[in-house]
Amino acid sequence: MSFRLAASYNQPEQSEISKRGVSLIQNPKSKIQNSKPLVVRNLYKSFHSPAGEKIEVLRELSFKAQAGEIVAVVGASGAGKSTLLHLLGGIERADAGEIRLGEFDVTGAGAAELARFHNERVGFVFQFHHLLLDLTAAENIAMPLLIRREPRKRSIEQAVASLKEIGLANRASHPVSQLSGGEQQRVAVLRALITRPQLVLADEPTGNLDKETGDPVGAMLASYCRSHSAIVIVATHNEQLARDCDHHLILQGGSLTDFGF
Ligand SMILES: Nc1ncnc2c1ncn2[C@@H]1O[C@H](COP(=O)(O)OP(=O)(O)O)[C@@H](O)[C@H]1O
Ligand SMILES: [Mg+2]
Repeated sequence: MSFRLAASYNQPEQSEISKRGVSLIQNPKSKIQNSKPLVVRNLYKSFHSPAGEKIEVLRELSFKAQAGEIVAVVGASGAGKSTLLHLLGGIERADAGEIRLGEFDVTGAGAAELARFHNERVGFVFQFHHLLLDLTAAENIAMPLLIRREPRKRSIEQAVASLKEIGLANRASHPVSQLSGGEQQRVAVLRALITRPQLVLADEPTGNLDKETGDPVGAMLASYCRSHSAIVIVATHNEQLARDCDHHLILQGGSLTDFGF
């Protein structure tokens, strides 16, 4: 799986918006600069089974990611990959330890601050795209903007422009239920990126796709990461995909057993 900037998706037909230099996926002349690292220190997370037994999922977990880096989190099913992403994105709370994105203290934030962090600075991509099937591709992508009460016309225009960038403009007004699995996941990636988040968390984004349809998904994430100096964390079972990232974390027995480039 190629995860590099040499994106394997179709060259964009330049939209008015991308001509003005604010394209979503590829924006090499972007002035958007983010120098905020993600720092995780001594993270602990456990759950309780229905029988009341304590399940320790993450133990003493520490790592750092710099802006513009793609980090793979590898590990067997049940190793704690999704749990880690949920903690990083402020969806769940750690038992102990620290997560910081730049100056923002995720672990110490109150509920309202955390909700704002999640909505404004984090983009999430799931294995099963979680799109609204009856809505069109453009409406799904625009949804995070509409939730922020941005004007509908402009939000849909931005969504259509992002579809143009990946050569899917002709699918903009199709209900998502009519798209292929690979197309649906690319729409889900655009939805996660449309607000230009600093931190992108992708939970087995190609887990449900074959290589041919998975490659463009990885390429979109990589391209966004480089051009916006974002941090992308990808949980995956796929060792090849992980090798193509800047570095990888191997989760085993609740801790990181390796940390390599
Ligand atoms: N909400 C929860 N309640 C209880 N146990 C959970 C919960 N979420 C995850 N777990 C358990 O934590 C472990 C790690 O799960 P998960 O993070 O989903 O692993 P992965 O994504 O690597 O497959 C598993 O044993 C799982 O059953
Ligand atoms: Mg998982």
